[in-house]
Amino acid sequence: MPARILLVLVSCALSVVIGLVIARGGAGVTAARQRPLIGLSMDTLKEERWQVDRDLFTAKAQAAGADVLVQSANSNDAVQLQNVESLITQKVDALVIIPHDGAAMAKAVHLAHQAGIPVLSYDRLITDCDLDLYLTFDNVKVGELQAKFLADRITVGGKLRLIRIYGAKTDNNAKLFKRGQDNILQPLIAAGKVEVIFEDWAEDWKPESAKKITNAAITKNGPNFDAILASNDGTAGGAIQALTEEGLAGKIIVTGQDADLAACQRIAQGTQAMTVYKPIQSIATQAAELALKLARRQPVIARDAVANGKTDVPSVLLDIISVTKENLRETVVKDGFRKENEVFQSSQP
Ligand code: BGC
Repeated sequence: MPARILLVLVSCALSVVIGLVIARGGAGVTAARQRPLIGLSMDTLKEERWQVDRDLFTAKAQAAGADVLVQSANSNDAVQLQNVESLITQKVDALVIIPHDGAAMAKAVHLAHQAGIPVLSYDRLITDCDLDLYLTFDNVKVGELQAKFLADRITVGGKLRLIRIYGAKTDNNAKLFKRGQDNILQPLIAAGKVEVIFEDWAEDWKPESAKKITNAAITKNGPNFDAILASNDGTAGGAIQALTEEGLAGKIIVTGQDADLAACQRIAQGTQAMTVYKPIQSIATQAAELALKLARRQPVIARDAVANGKTDVPSVLLDIISVTKENLRETVVKDGFRKENEVFQSSQP
């Protein structure tokens, strides 16, 4: 069994736990290797954001002196498990996993640990296993920002009629986004200020699924609703397609998440109202730095801990920003995440 050291540091100033230091010893697997090898196992490269994650992660890790092997599973758990097995066989020194299904990938973590390889769960949590490290955005806050945007648009004495489109049931993040949305919406629903007229989960976060959900909601209730709480930009895009077919695009408030280029363009044009910008540069580069430390068996400090059903996983939570037409320039454009001419290409600045 590889040795595992867990050290909890206590912050005197804040009197809270500020750090967990992890080391999974792989019997010196790599102590001698000049350039550590990091395996990146991805659920999918379908959404634009994941291609950015991959490219930034790889570039940072390579610049910092590591080599990276990337595998993508095309939203298939069996394929993702095979990918991880293959990375283990290729003797990676650390594994970074973006799980399709957070529960299914517990097995991958177990296999990696048997081989003495530490695992970092990237953006999405792997549940019910002895995970080494978790790096993500504040996902509950993502949901809160989405719902708060809608709550702020309820007129005095008015009621917001809402369609809710959740993400993939297999993705722990989708549940956290919903939890954040519920935090804001439940009191408003109880007060009669919000009415959810239709809700469903979009299979594998597919835009087509979000379009079908929107079509079904319109078939059932007609066009008499005010907003669609879509959990990410991909599903927002699908919902907006359905709205466009009904002549409703731009009249219904639609939320999103990821600041995808297409979503930023829709915000500039007025068919989508907001997105949540999660600086991919931060998560990808920090993940690369942390993975390299794990690979070199150096200590890692994580300020938070997230319960995954089995253990409190040492975690790093990154902050996020709500983006609307008003602050597109000061956020995603200023940050260099999006180019001004691309965002505003077909709309008035
Ligand atoms: C991510 C989102 C992404 C969604 C679909 C979630 O786990 O946090 O950024 O839009 O997956 O890929």
